[in-house]
Amino acid sequence: MIRLGILGSGSGSNMQAILDAIAAGGLDAEIALVLSDIPNAYILDRAARAGLPTGLINCRDFKSNFPEEAQHETAEALRQSEVELVCLAGFMRLLRAPLLQAFTRRIINIHPSLLPSFPGLHAWTQAVEAGATESGCSVHYVDAGMDTGPVISQATVPVLPDDTPESLHARIQIEEHKIYPAAIAEVAASLKPD
Ligand code: GRF
Repeated sequence: MIRLGILGSGSGSNMQAILDAIAAGGLDAEIALVLSDIPNAYILDRAARAGLPTGLINCRDFKSNFPEEAQHETAEALRQSEVELVCLAGFMRLLRAPLLQAFTRRIINIHPSLLPSFPGLHAWTQAVEAGATESGCSVHYVDAGMDTGPVISQATVPVLPDDTPESLHARIQIEEHKIYPAAIAEVAASLKPD
């Protein structure tokens, strides 16, 4: 049973998929803490409804920066909850040394493209605008770059001729909800001592 910490800024559908996989017996894990940098993010409502411990990351007045002090506080909160693996689920700030060093090779992310294609914001819009015929999603280890860490797993979806960014994102999210829990199980197994 691995203890997960979830960081998210948005709706939390991936966190919900992780919870559902745990409930269905497909993932031997427990969500120990859910943190958000956005006070009214829906991920916090979902977490509270599921009875999970939640907390707010205080990024002061910074809109997209993740101040060093806030990263130290986040690492400390995760440690206090005895988190073993940190899962970013729609978390919109870049992690730097304080957090990355506290959880070396223990932070993963889900990104809505086939990395290394289309890193960064609105990857589904990038795919439609580039005229890509396929896209998908990737689970990867997090490093200090923007969606640059080693890829753990991917799923591919077609981009259809009449796709809008929204319809493509919806198709990608269906796959995200399958591969993220599976990748967490894979990473958890790799962290177990022999
Ligand atoms: C997902 O598309 C994920 O790939 C990206 O942000 C979105 C989060 O969605 N990093 P949700 O909050 O899990 O619904």
